Amino acid sequence: MIRCIGILTSGGDCPGLNAAIRGIAKAAIQRHGMEVVGIRDGFRGLVENRVQRLDTQSLSNVLTLGGTILGTSRDKPNKMLMGDQVLDMTAVAVANARSHGIECLVCLGGNGTQKNAHHLQRAGGLDVLTLPKTIDNDVHGTDVSFGFDTAMTIAAEAIDRLHTTATSHDRIIVVEVMGNSAGWLALGAGLAAGADVILIPEIPYDLHVVKDYLLERQRRYGKRFSIVVVAEGALTREQAAAARLNRKNGAPKVEAAPGSDDELHGRRLVHESLATSLARQLQALTGTDARVTALGHVQRGGGPTPADRLLCTRLGVKAADLLAEGVVNVMTAVRGTEIVPVPLERVAGRKQTVPAGHPWLHAARSVGTCLGVADADLQA
Ligand code: F6P
Repeated sequence: MIRCIGILTSGGDCPGLNAAIRGIAKAAIQRHGMEVVGIRDGFRGLVENRVQRLDTQSLSNVLTLGGTILGTSRDKPNKMLMGDQVLDMTAVAVANARSHGIECLVCLGGNGTQKNAHHLQRAGGLDVLTLPKTIDNDVHGTDVSFGFDTAMTIAAEAIDRLHTTATSHDRIIVVEVMGNSAGWLALGAGLAAGADVILIPEIPYDLHVVKDYLLERQRRYGKRFSIVVVAEGALTREQAAAARLNRKNGAPKVEAAPGSDDELHGRRLVHESLATSLARQLQALTGTDARVTALGHVQRGGGPTPADRLLCTRLGVKAADLLAEGVVNVMTAVRGTEIVPVPLERVAGRKQTVPAGHPWLHAARSVGTCLGVADADLQA
């Protein structure tokens, strides 16, 4: 029987983290009589030994609160910037957890967190349990991750608003939503808000297909406004081919060194954003005035939707119930209407992107949405 658990939140924050912390901790304390230790700022707080005891008092009034009451960071236990050195702090992280009597560490996060938790278990021998969190919805092994419904709702509402101004001015509005390697958010929000064009990382696009589609909308239907939703990681066909070639030739992934000027100033801030360059090109090619809106971190801010609150509470309570049964080293996952444990080794290091032939793609094509390639080029 597990008597004491730790909880940390790691990676980008997202709506629902507090609802999930509350679900785990309340069930662990009230139903199973466990002690719960909150760890500040993800794996860095564990390494730096910054903890706080969680009790029912500290868990009150957090269900609807955005962000995370524990704080978060993107640090990895095995590659952590300590002063001016990058060090493997796995042993310190595990020793600190043990010093607080933590028998299982519950980690709430996306793909990076799943990997880090798995690493602590394999290399450090610390039992872990994870919950799938990300607005990108790309955690493998679960039907859905928490935070996605809220982000999709925010993005769809924003696109609705952009629709009326685009119509009034006869403009193309390019809306950039988050999603570096998965297009769930762009596709879901775009479909829900009736976007005319949706571009996602899984389907490298042809600029001329988009241009022809927009001109045809004008010519055939007299519609001079259009909404183009683009995921931040969408690529043209040429860019995708170049990236494939680089990978094939073993070219190293270009990453900013921790603490370097590139990292500090954010490459994406100094380079023209994808949405801006797309808007500029479409304006030139179609002769229609274009504008850009990047939704950015608005999609991650604020409180969770009722659907996310419900999901987080269910995922959290299931986590506590599994721990009470001694089930560890799993992720609580959504399968249909059930919450089930999935072995962490089947989750860590894998990503759930939009598969070819997914029903959402079929729906988009069927209502005439342009996905950036000719229909014949899309796999069934
Ligand atoms: O992983 C979630 C996410 O919101 C991605 O969609 C986005 O690319 C990234 O985080 C942004 O990270 P940061 O908040 O560190 O800029």
